[in-house]
Order: sequence, then structure tokens, then C-alpha cells
Amino acid sequence: MVPRHCPSLARRARDGFFIPSERQAKKVMGKYYVTTPIYYPSDKLHVGHAYTTTAADALARFHKLLGDEVYFLTGSDEHGQKIQRIAASKGIQPKEYVDRIVATFQDLWRRLDIQYDDFIRTTEPRHQRAVQAIFKRLLDQGDIYKSKYEGWYCEPCEAFWLERQLEDGKCPDCHRPVQWVEEESYFLRLSAYQDRLLQHIQAHPEFIQPESRRNEMIRFIEAGLNDLSVSRTTFDWGIPVPGDEKHVVYVWIDALSNYITALGYASADDHLYRKFWPADLHLVGKEIVRFHTIIWPIILMALGLPLPKQVFGHGWLLFDAEKMSKSRGNVVDPVALIEEFGPDPLRYFLLREVVFGQDGNFSREALIHRTNADLANDLGNLLYRSASMLERYRDGRVPAPGPASARDRELMGLVGEVKRETIACMERLEPHNALASIWRLIGRANKYIDEEAPWALQRQGQQERLDTVLYNLVEVLRNVAILVWPFIPRTGQAIWQRLGLPGEILQQGLAAVKWGLYPPGGAVTRGEPLFPRIEEKENQEKGEPYVTMDQAVFEKPAAAAGTAPGATATVPVAGAAPEGAAAPSPSAEPAPDGAPLPQITIDEFARLDLRLATIEEAEAIPKADKLLRLQVRMGPERRQIVAGIARHYRPEELVGRQIVVVANLKPARLRGVESQGMLLAASTPDGEQLAILGPDKPLPAGCKVK
Ligand code: MSP
Repeated sequence: MVPRHCPSLARRARDGFFIPSERQAKKVMGKYYVTTPIYYPSDKLHVGHAYTTTAADALARFHKLLGDEVYFLTGSDEHGQKIQRIAASKGIQPKEYVDRIVATFQDLWRRLDIQYDDFIRTTEPRHQRAVQAIFKRLLDQGDIYKSKYEGWYCEPCEAFWLERQLEDGKCPDCHRPVQWVEEESYFLRLSAYQDRLLQHIQAHPEFIQPESRRNEMIRFIEAGLNDLSVSRTTFDWGIPVPGDEKHVVYVWIDALSNYITALGYASADDHLYRKFWPADLHLVGKEIVRFHTIIWPIILMALGLPLPKQVFGHGWLLFDAEKMSKSRGNVVDPVALIEEFGPDPLRYFLLREVVFGQDGNFSREALIHRTNADLANDLGNLLYRSASMLERYRDGRVPAPGPASARDRELMGLVGEVKRETIACMERLEPHNALASIWRLIGRANKYIDEEAPWALQRQGQQERLDTVLYNLVEVLRNVAILVWPFIPRTGQAIWQRLGLPGEILQQGLAAVKWGLYPPGGAVTRGEPLFPRIEEKENQEKGEPYVTMDQAVFEKPAAAAGTAPGATATVPVAGAAPEGAAAPSPSAEPAPDGAPLPQITIDEFARLDLRLATIEEAEAIPKADKLLRLQVRMGPERRQIVAGIARHYRPEELVGRQIVVVANLKPARLRGVESQGMLLAASTPDGEQLAILGPDKPLPAGCKVK
């Protein structure tokens, strides 16, 4: 993959810096097809999802710089019982529901500068037709057969489990309760392909990576594969099975096929399929490696198609050492982070902080720290210092360099070294190491400024040496701009422009990462710092921005929960002020205790969704002596509520009690724990006595309070 030296290019490089990549010049471009999982629109996406897609985007961009013809696919996995249920609970059709959520996915990718080539939706006719063709072919040739299913089903994961696979009687993936299901179903004959699959995995060590996941999959297959249920009759939000329409294609055949249906497989126009398949890389989270390395290759084998070259299972982004997930109430909203910090700090953090392949922690403090240390201090300062000196000493014009010293030659050599390292790291799917390597160059250049002390050269009148030092700094920055572009594209392009270089970095290719291509005489502008420093202390108090789907997507802004005038003023509530909450507007400010409040209309009161809830679990929160964490049931829904009642109630005396909850209050974070509502209580003005409100006789949880 390392571009080899090409004499004609070196000549052209001396003549000007606008050169195509070496591969393009030699017409030996490779192709690179990279995919992300298609995301479930059961909710808005969180920063964990942004992690996979950002990594795929950086890889796609990197391969573009290498001169490869790149195809980058992402999309949405829109069928299944869960989606149907959520839509029904909102009183809308599933399609209307997924349309709204998928729009938020696409908006997120736009904000994060994700440059995908196609976004496949499993509800699109092009996908549905191809899935039906695939299903029919497998059925006709006997790889799919009809039988009866009995087994344990996990609805949230949409997965069937054998008795022996359950853990404590619960789903081994998500640890939620499973239900016994018996129904007629179509099955995919996984068992028939077990040996062939094992042979393939053994013969192609690169097929499943990292190594630990490969070993895990081998053990799983060796334990024996059971045929897989691939259709459902209990719901209809799916692709109908051809010729037997009471069945819909069950989620994995539908979902996995996206990687070829998006390319036009089984359609009249399959030129993309012929060009790009097999995929070079399916990038997936570790929990879905199994589907991608067992079910998917078997479907492909049965269809007689080549297998993807690699499935890479990356780790999870954790929050407080737990996987981010809606049910745990710890999902961080990437849109809010992008709005606050911009896309590049988030992209940089995701790609630099976590060892790709392993689990890693997300925290706001770590994001701010990385931004300040690496982006503002190291990279931002290198540009700012260099450009300032050019403006001060050379009117912003880049001088031609004089003879190179030993130190200059070391700096020049480092550019080539870092380029080689970066390519090697990206080939091994180690973006974190690629960035560490690039930052070695940035660090060296900052040190070079201190060592060369251009201000002293200016004072001493050493003009030729000053010219050389200033040129070298610009040349490092030009190379850095290209190298960082796949990871933080806006920053790369912004540096490029401030160096007075025309056009897009994309057109440069990695071949332009090479010493000496900056044309002397170019004009550099300093501009504002690329990354203003973020006050760490002030920000620590802010807390995380949480994904709050319902308010954003499903309610009219005027009626959004938590913004109703008087919402906090009319109801006596227990609980500390949410740490993450925005400052209330003056009209929503609670009046001093006991003071009368302005009248409200019945319509204003009706904006509060008050519900009866039953406390199912209660526990203390470590290091928060006023707070209790409650798990409450409201009809079919279970929620977590954090209440400031620990000084008045012991957790054990609360379990089983019925309370009144403000159900449409915007979720907030209290001492690091998400609260998805607020319970009502009355308290004396000094707060010494407090009583929780509840019904005077038991009623079903979820009943409306009005
Ligand atoms: N729809 C399936 C994928 C089908 S692919 C043919 C699915 N969707 S998902 O929306 O639940 O998850 C998509 C991806 O997001 C998975 O790779 C998953 O690992 C990833 N992540 C979800 N939460 C994550 C973190 N907290 N951290 C890192 N990745 C995470 O599964």
C-alpha cells in the first residue's frame, strides 16, 4: 500500500505542488469498499454510533488520499417488531416514524462531515426487491426451509436463544427477560455451512479482526451452529416472504443484505456490485461481529458470492464504565457536542482517545482536555505561532529556504517517517496510533520553533536562516494539513487555506505529503486561533448533553416538555435542580416558597403529563447523599428517576409504593445519573419534612393524573 517512489512525479513535484497521487499517475488505483452497520431507528443516534461512522469516514477519506476508488456505505435498519411497537405507541405509521428518525441520522452525519457515498434504507423498494430475490433463491435451492420454531425470544435484540445460551434465564446479550415463543418459521440452514465457514476463517486470518474476536467466533462455531429462524408471523413491519405473505423476512437476512443490495445486486443495474464487491471492510461493534462473521458469510456462500475481506469488531464507547445505551439512560447526544465544540474536536477525540478495537471511555472532561491539549495547544499553536511570525517578519509572504542544517534535515526526514507510520497504522486499523504519529511531527515542529528561536534570528539579523526556519514551519504545516484531513477534515482544509494554498486537500493525495512542495512567495494568514481554549473548570459543572428524542422529533416546539410556562412553578416537586438543565427563563422561575403564583389556564396545566407509577427498585447513589435512584413502572414502560428524597426515605420502604410522576419532563442528569422524569412531593418551607404524593388506593401504573 505504501506508494512507491516515482521519478517522474518527483520531477513534477519540484515544478509545482498540484500533483495527482502517485497511484493515480500510474493508473494503479485500488478500490476500497467500507461499510458501517445500518443503524436501528428505534431512537436518535448517540455518540457511540457516531464512533463507528467517524472511524469509517476517516478510513474512507484516507483511502481516497491513497488514490483508491472508495465506496462508503451507511444506512438504516428499519424493520422489526420493536419499530412497529414504538410507532404504534406514538400513534403513527411505522414508515412515518422511521422517516422522522432517519432524517435525524442524516442530519447528524452532515454535521459530522461524514462523506458517505450512499445511505441505504431497508424500507426502500430497491432493497426490498433484492432481499426478496435473495430469499427466494435460498428457498428454491433448499438453503431455507419451513418448519416450526420453539424457543426463547429477546424482543429488544430481536434474537432467539436456546435454553443453554440464556444467562440467569435472561438474554445473554442485553440481560433483559426473554419470552417463550412457538410459531411457524422459515429457517436458514447454517449447520450445512459450518465446516466451510470454519475452513474459511482458518485460511484467512485477516477475515475476522481483532484476533480476540476471531478466536471467540471460532469457539462459537466449533460448539455447533443451529439453523436460524429467518421469518416472523407475529408482526408485519418487514419485507414479505415471497409467495407466503403472512411471513415477513426476519431482521438479519434483511439487514445484512444491505451491503450488496445498495450496490444493485440482483437488480438490472449492478455495475457498482461488480465493481466494489467483495467489501474490503465491514466495520461493526463487537456485539454484532457474530452476525457478520457467521450468518452473513453463510448467506453469501449459499448465494455463491465472495465473502467480505474483513470484518472488524471495534469496542464500545463506555460512559462511567458502562456501555452507552438508552435503557441505561447514559446516552450522550453528539449533536449537542457538535453544536458546542464543532465536529472536529469530537471526531478527533473519538479517533484518538480510544484504542480502536478495545472499549474506551467517553467523558466530557476527556473531550475538553484532548481538545485543549492536542488541538488548541499543539496544532492550533503551531499554526498560530508560525503564521504570526511570518506576518511580523515577512509581511505574510513565505520566503524561499536557504541551505538546510542538520536539524532541518531531521525535520524533513520526520515527515517521510510519519507518513509511512500513518499509512501502516491505518492499514492495521489503528487510527489512534496514526494520530499519535502525526502529533509526533507537530510536537517536533513546536520544539523546532523553541530551538531555532526565530525572534532571536530576527534580532541578530540572520535573515537567511530566518527564511529557512519560516519556510520549514510552513512546509511542516502543509504536510500536517494533508495528514490530518481524513480525521479532522475541516481543520486540515482550514490550515490549507491559511497557508494560501488553493483547492481541496482531497485532490492532493498522500503523494503530496513530501518535503519541499510549498511554492515560496505564497501568502499566509494568521486568522483567529483554530481552537480557542475551553475553560475546563467552568465546563465540568455543565454535565453531559443527553439524547432526548421525543421532545426534539415528536413534539411541536411550543409544547416541548419542560418548557411549558409554569411547569415547574405550579407543581410541588421533590428533587435537586438538574445539573445539565439549561437556565430557566424568567417566566419559568419558581416563586419563593409560599408565594402565590400567577394563574394558569386549564390548557397550560394539561401540558403536564402526570402519571401514576409504581416503584419497582430503589437504591442509594454513591457519593450523592440526598439522591435515590428509582426504577419505576408506568404501564408498559419502565423509567429511571432520580429523586432528592434520600434524607426522608430509605430505599427499601419505597419499593411497591405508587407515586405521581411528571412524565414529560425533559431528561436531566443528576450527579452523573440520568433522571427520566420527576416525582411529586410536598415539603415544608425549610425542607425538613417531605411527603411523597400517591393515590389513596392502588390503581394500574401508567394511569393519567389530572
Ligand atoms: N441494525 C443493527 C446492525 C445491522 S448491520 C447489518 C444494529 N444497529 S444498532 O443501531 O443497534 O447499532 C449499530 C452499531 O452501533 C453497532 O455496531 C453497535 O456496536 C454500535 N454502537 C452502539 N452503541 C455503541 C457504543 N456505546 N459504542 C460503540 N459502538 C456502539 O446493531
